[in-house]
This record gives sequence, C-alpha cells and structure tokens, in this order.
Amino acid sequence: MRKTMCRILAAASVAVLAMSTMAFAGETEAEADVIQGNGQKIGVSMPTKDLQRWNQDGDNMQKMLEDAGYTVDLQYASNDVQTQLSQIENMISSGDEILVIAAIEGSSLGEALTMAAENEIPVIAYDRLLMQSDAVSYYATFDNYMVGTVQGNYIVDTLDLDNVDGPFNLECTAGDPGDNNAGYFFSGAMDVLQPYIDSGKLVVPSGQVAFDDVATPTWATETAQSRAENILSSNYSDGTNVDVWLCSNDSTALGVENALAANYTGTYPIVTGQDCDIENVKNMIAGKQAMSVFKDTRTLAAQVVKMVGQVLNGVEVDVNDTETYDNGVKVVPSYLCEPVFADVNNYTELLIDSGYYTEDQLK
Ligand code: BGC
Repeated sequence: MRKTMCRILAAASVAVLAMSTMAFAGETEAEADVIQGNGQKIGVSMPTKDLQRWNQDGDNMQKMLEDAGYTVDLQYASNDVQTQLSQIENMISSGDEILVIAAIEGSSLGEALTMAAENEIPVIAYDRLLMQSDAVSYYATFDNYMVGTVQGNYIVDTLDLDNVDGPFNLECTAGDPGDNNAGYFFSGAMDVLQPYIDSGKLVVPSGQVAFDDVATPTWATETAQSRAENILSSNYSDGTNVDVWLCSNDSTALGVENALAANYTGTYPIVTGQDCDIENVKNMIAGKQAMSVFKDTRTLAAQVVKMVGQVLNGVEVDVNDTETYDNGVKVVPSYLCEPVFADVNNYTELLIDSGYYTEDQLK
C-alpha cells in the first residue's frame, strides 16, 4: 500500500514539477517583467550564513539584482538581532533605496523599520513576515501554511491513515517561536494530523504536541537533537517504535536524525523536513529522511527582484494574497510561491534536472 501511495505521490509530484518548471520557465517571463535598474542600491538583509538556504537566497538575490542593473548591499547578521538592527540602520544611512529583509526575529526590528519609514524607504519582508510595524510595504514568501499541509498529507498518505487502524507513534519538532513562519508550518501540519490524533490512529508517547513544547529556538540542529535524545530515552528505550517524526524543516530534521542514529534501534520512522538542504537530501537518498519540502529559492528571488523594480517605479506590485498575513498592525500584501514535496522518487527531476544541484553535490 505504501508503494502504491508513493507512486501516486510521485506521479502527483511530477505533475507539480511540470507546473514548477513552467513557473521556472515563467521566471524568464518574470525576468522579462523586471524593470531594469540604473544602479540604485538595494539593501538585502539575511539572517545567517549558518543555514544553507539563506546563502542560496542571498546569492540568488545578488545575482538577479545585479543582472537587472541594481547595486547590491547584501549583509548577513549571524543570527544576532542587534547585528541585524545595526546593519539595517547602516543600509538606511548609506543611501540604500529599498530594503529586502529576512528577519531573525519578526518583531525585533521595530527601530530600524521606523527609521526606514522616516526616510521613506520601502521595505519588502523576504520569506519571514516583519511583525508589529506599518513600515512593511510587501511580503514575498512560500505559502507557509501549505508547507505544513504538504508535510501532514505526506504522513497521512505514507502511513495510509485513512485505511489502516494503527495506532502509530508520532513525535513533533517545530521551529523558532520568534519566526512567524514557524507557527504556520506547524499549524498547517497539525490541521491535517489532529483528526488522526483525536481518533487514536496517531499517538504521541511523549505527550508533547503543543507548539510551545515542540518549538526549537533559532531552528538549531543541536537543540532539536538534544530534545529528541531526551524523548527517545524517556519513551522509546524499551523497544517501542517511533513511526513518524514531524520536523518542520531540515535543520531540525538533521538533529532528530542524529539522535535516531545514536539512540534508537527500532524501525526507522518517517521523518519530514523542509528546504531540501544538501545534507538532508543525502539523508533522503540514504533512507534516513522520508521527505523534504522544496522551496526553489530562485523562484522567490526572481519574484522579489520583480517587486523591487515595481516598487521603485511606482508600478502596480504583483501580489496574490491580501488576506492572510496580518502582522499585528496591518495585513501585508503578499506574493506566495508554491512549495512542493520532494522524496527519493522525484528528487532527481526536482533538484538535479532543474539545475538546483549537481549530482556531485549530493554524493
Ligand atoms: C524558513 C525555512 C527555514 C527556517 C530556518 C524559515 O523562516 O521559511 O525555509 O528552514 O526559517 O532557517
């Protein structure tokens, strides 16, 4: 049954791949839509170089903006809020004309955002929403709630929860409470899984299922690992199997996978993730992670470069969601890109054929 589901999922994902390839072919269109710059300086503030995805996001933004004729002021803040604040303030005082910000903590950049507003510098929130500020003009991201539902549905389909009684043991690891995305990922997944918990098909032996109990500050691999080690030794050392471990992203999945490798001898669980980081794709190929959610950072960067040109030229900005992302002060007009799941059956098409990675990078 699992195999049948995998085939259905693989077929579905090929269809989605076709769509995403269209979207990527459309990226040429998006690039054609990009309004050429004349050297204006664009501030791009990224949270950290520690995680692969932000390096990719930064590189993509830099290249695409430069190709479109802009000058790029790209800075990484070492996951330190004070550093990010002062980097953004420097961007403003050194004459950057628009800011693209992926916040470390969505609510902690208030001072810098006020300064941007006072200087009439538009701000685009990149991937993570900037909270509690009316200085945010636009938000571009992947559909964060959908990331969670993709993970939840993968679990339901792979365990065939609609047709078998179970029960299956589930554990959960979510993201950073300071990152607005983390709640969307987790609630998307739990909205899918909760009915099966309620009916007893899924059981959580640790009892830890509330977001605050399963969150991982700064999305740190080591923190996810030590929590997983505690859960394994308290609930699974008697030979009980953990059947599925919902992890909101790849850095936390890596921690759980390290803990499983060191502290667990039962049947290997379905482990979910997000980002298709290289280490995780390698683990996927090795059977240590069932799936990840692929968010093609090239698509997001292309969209943001398009938005930058539109904002700077006072042209109507391309958004597709004007309801979901309330930052506590306003609903921020957003562009949501579509995430797709990746697993061992479709990663070649999704990641290698599309040029995202080379085969060598995954060896
Ligand atoms: C991003 C994820 C990423 C996580 C940790 C989130 O805001 O949307 O793609 O895995 O941060 O960096």
